Amino acid sequence: EPPSADPRPVVLLTRRLPEAVEARASRDYTAILNPTDEALSGLAIAERAAAVKADAVLCCAGDRLDAAAIAALPERVRLLATFSVGTDHIDLAAAKARGLTVTNTPDVLTDATADIALLLILGAARRASEGERLIRADAWTGWTPTQLMGTHIGGKRLGIIGMGRIGQAVARRARAFGMTIHYSNRKRLPRELEEGAVYHSDPDALLAVSDVLSLHFPATAETRHWLNAERIERLPPGAILINTARGTVVDDQAIVAALRSGRLAAAGLDVFENEPNLFADYRDLPNSFLLPHLGSATVETRNAMGFKALDNIDAALSGREPPDRVV
Ligand code: DGY
Repeated sequence: EPPSADPRPVVLLTRRLPEAVEARASRDYTAILNPTDEALSGLAIAERAAAVKADAVLCCAGDRLDAAAIAALPERVRLLATFSVGTDHIDLAAAKARGLTVTNTPDVLTDATADIALLLILGAARRASEGERLIRADAWTGWTPTQLMGTHIGGKRLGIIGMGRIGQAVARRARAFGMTIHYSNRKRLPRELEEGAVYHSDPDALLAVSDVLSLHFPATAETRHWLNAERIERLPPGAILINTARGTVVDDQAIVAALRSGRLAAAGLDVFENEPNLFADYRDLPNSFLLPHLGSATVETRNAMGFKALDNIDAALSGREPPDRVV
């Protein structure tokens, strides 16, 4: 049956999604899938949306929907439901100006992302990837009292910049490992959420007490390259950097220089500017622990993200307020 004969709304999925999510989308809508899972440019998404007469687009974090792509979207598209909590890939001002609704998927990926932050803290502090590489290179000559000594995280200070859902979930986990929590946030949290964490109104002051620094704020024009050489200098010598937010919030060149000189003992990074094209030098450093943007990558979480995106589409296309409206 050609799509035009099907009375159901048309939803364009820009990438391959978990099976259960695609199944629900196909059950409830004329769902246009991307079986080859090719990455599409913003303009290609707009072209495809026009070709299939899409009413909504279910897009993903890697889809660059800039002002030009949004201008090219056909009038018929009412909703961009992104399969992510981050919305830095979408020009929200352009979407708002043309009356396009944008929704995201908060909450359901908080725990998975916080788990990855802890994995990075532990992996960077305990030199896990150096150890793994040693074994894979068949270079391990056996246990010695001084081999690959890392840093104990218990008793150390964890500085969290951005104490939203994910920052708070990281704090809860890190406390269980005996870390002391310091945080900086636009607003101070109520005492019951603070749970003994020390608030710093000035993020620069927080840096001075962060043995481990974990970034949990959104990527915007204002936060671009926020962690630069000058701010790294404020950290205690031998601090550890963790980034599960977005690659654009750090200055790669400054991080690499600090990892090379030992000013930073290690970095655990799950996100990069210009993914998947890594700032090449990260790969050559022994003290970088690198993951390919796995924060939300569990079956449970990816299903929940897809269902949430579809809940938003259901609401918006039936004239109800979508639960996770961004604009
Ligand atoms: C997000 O949700 O923003 C992640 O970075 C991608 O899942």
